[in-house]
Amino acid sequence: MTLLEAIKERHSVRKYIDKPIEAEKVAALQEAIARINEQTGLNIQLVVEEPRAFASGMWKYGQFSGVRNYLVMAGPKGTGAEEAVGYWGEELVLKAQTMGLSSCWVGLTYTKIPGTFTLRKGDVVHLVIALGYGTTPGVQHPLRPAEQFYEAKVAPPDWFLRGIEAALLAPTAINQQKFHFTLTGERTVRAKALFSMAGYTRIDLGIVKYHFELAAGKENFEWEK
Ligand SMILES: Cc1cc2nc3c(=O)[nH]c(=O)nc-3n(C[C@H](O)[C@H](O)[C@H](O)COP(=O)(O)O)c2cc1C
Repeated sequence: MTLLEAIKERHSVRKYIDKPIEAEKVAALQEAIARINEQTGLNIQLVVEEPRAFASGMWKYGQFSGVRNYLVMAGPKGTGAEEAVGYWGEELVLKAQTMGLSSCWVGLTYTKIPGTFTLRKGDVVHLVIALGYGTTPGVQHPLRPAEQFYEAKVAPPDWFLRGIEAALLAPTAINQQKFHFTLTGERTVRAKALFSMAGYTRIDLGIVKYHFELAAGKENFEWEK
């Protein structure tokens, strides 16, 4: 499965079976994480075989079960870091999907377990991403018409429409999809986060930009600020 195929296969999965992630898959994820951390200054960490983050206190009776592996998405504060968390987190989510692993981004319903990860001075945990073998592959979220999500100053080429289609398949907090793309020229695209009371729109923006780039092809366009 390619990353592009993984975009279509991926759905949030909240219930997992009792099957550890194989050592070679853990190693492949660790390698990708190390590369991303070095390149970006983020401090992403993979925690395996740790059931407490999703089993304690008020979340015990929540919608998650069997979560024992997760990515701690730590790094500096700020909107730039939030977008990077979304962008690079989604690369890891899709990579995991190509290995047969399901996932779910989790903003709130987890407990931080001391000793399972480390923070540098100034780091915060933005959120976590549950990983593992799901009880089901999950279901496709409802799709809204693509036209609601973009504006085009010139006739939209195929690569742009492919990018929008992939962006619409991306996970966003509470499926809020608070983003908007503009084709500003033949080869320039602007992506904007819209307002949401729920927050997380910068992380969502990073996620949808990753999907857009993958499907549109980086060689076809440039991001406009
Ligand atoms: C930034 C972010 C935070 C999220 N937080 C939670 C969460 O706290 N609990 C949860 O059950 N799902 C959470 N989700 C998953 C979304 O609800 C899910 O991605 C969305 O409903 C779309 O469904 P899909 O991922 O199956 O396409 C989060 C997703 C994102 C991107």
